[in-house]
Amino acid sequence: MSIDYGQKIPNNVDLSSDKTLQRALEHWQPEFLNWWGAMGPDGSHAFDVYLRTAVSVDVGGWTHYDYVRMPDYRWGIFLNPAESGRTVGFGDHKGEPVWQEVPGEYRSNLRRIIVTQGDTEPASVEQQRLLGLSCPSLYDLRNLFQVNVEEGRHLWAMVYLLHRYFGRDGREEAEALLERRSGDADKPRILGAFNEQTPDWLSFFMFTYFTDRDGKFQLAALTESAFDPLARTTKFMLREESHHMFVGESGVGRILQRTCEVMAKHKVDDPARVRALGVIDLPTMQRYVNFHSSVTLDLFGSDVSSNAATFYTTGLKGRFDEGRMQDNHLLKDQTYPVFDPSSGTLAVREAPALNALNEKLRDDFVKDSIAGVGRWNRIIQKAGIDFKLTVPHKAFHRQIGPLAGLKVSPDGRIVSEAEWSASVAHWLPSTEDRAFVQSLMGRVVESGKFANWIAPPVSGINQQPVDFQYVRFN
Ligand SMILES: [Fe+2]
Ligand SMILES: [Fe+2]
Repeated sequence: MSIDYGQKIPNNVDLSSDKTLQRALEHWQPEFLNWWGAMGPDGSHAFDVYLRTAVSVDVGGWTHYDYVRMPDYRWGIFLNPAESGRTVGFGDHKGEPVWQEVPGEYRSNLRRIIVTQGDTEPASVEQQRLLGLSCPSLYDLRNLFQVNVEEGRHLWAMVYLLHRYFGRDGREEAEALLERRSGDADKPRILGAFNEQTPDWLSFFMFTYFTDRDGKFQLAALTESAFDPLARTTKFMLREESHHMFVGESGVGRILQRTCEVMAKHKVDDPARVRALGVIDLPTMQRYVNFHSSVTLDLFGSDVSSNAATFYTTGLKGRFDEGRMQDNHLLKDQTYPVFDPSSGTLAVREAPALNALNEKLRDDFVKDSIAGVGRWNRIIQKAGIDFKLTVPHKAFHRQIGPLAGLKVSPDGRIVSEAEWSASVAHWLPSTEDRAFVQSLMGRVVESGKFANWIAPPVSGINQQPVDFQYVRFN
């Protein structure tokens, strides 16, 4: 199913057969480009970047690498091919044919799901817009830009659905997606983590490791949707998402690698002495893990949620790996454990499984995120350094749901106000930690050179050498 790049808006949805829709999207396109010009990567507009572009949605044949001048990137609309005979896999409509149009009674819930997902995409571009000014290498700069253009394309994916299936409300929502701004006091982005700053590259790598992984789980749950166009578009988005998580995991891994090399070489482990050698000490790495892990956990929403139950029962949003679950896909009489902090402890109670679907998805995420942390620990171990990164307890530093505001240590103890205040600087990045990390950020753009605080990658992009000219500044 190849993509038509001859069109103003590249697409594989036969856009030209629906003139009204095409015109509406062609009207939105310059607004998107204005937004990109104002809120996309700062100063990047004359750069030629070695980017991958989707040329077809077929497995294996979908990528093409070449230099692209950033604002000329061909953002488009790409859906996975329809599976013939696909039926709804869960909820009250299980076994019925999937929907090609939006059922009237589910319209507002579906719109809300699509808008919430869509809002995260431009938000992360806004959060990352200054990072190019302090890139640790050309390789990393290219990866940042790749992530940015793909988040822009994810916005297109959601805007297409809004325009195509939601009429006037959808068009208004598409406009609003370009009007909200990450961190803005008056018009913030919808979800908390997308209003946080991403002020340095350590934050960027942690964000792409943890928060893009939230994206993976949300998208995976939407690939199960009975609304087939949503399922097909999120399937394609997931393939782009895996590169973002790779950027995060390998980025953090390379920082650890470099820190450990320096620690071993100079035989130091005192954080102050490690910092004096211009690399990021391991306790600071742990605090960044604690921060990004906890703010990302909040993105899954309240532990017990009637919306989650409704979305599932009505077929809008499934579970992660729904198809592989060995149960009746209705969840009516099942239960699922959630925290019950009402008695002042982290006791667990059984909630109706349908209402606990956010918690279930959060647990799937936790399992997945722990795996990569294990790989980071092997880097530390291999260097012969006695330190282990851990993912903080699920109840640590939570702002959403029944755990919100509870003072819990990273190892899962409810602590007093006094202990929290005395320890928070050991548990979360302090102003001083952030200032230190910021002090290391300097722009390195000579090909094959890397900032002192990060190791080079093992290999380049698309089998190019590590010292390839990934970005040309002109
Ligand atoms: Fe995305
Ligand atoms: Fe992403």
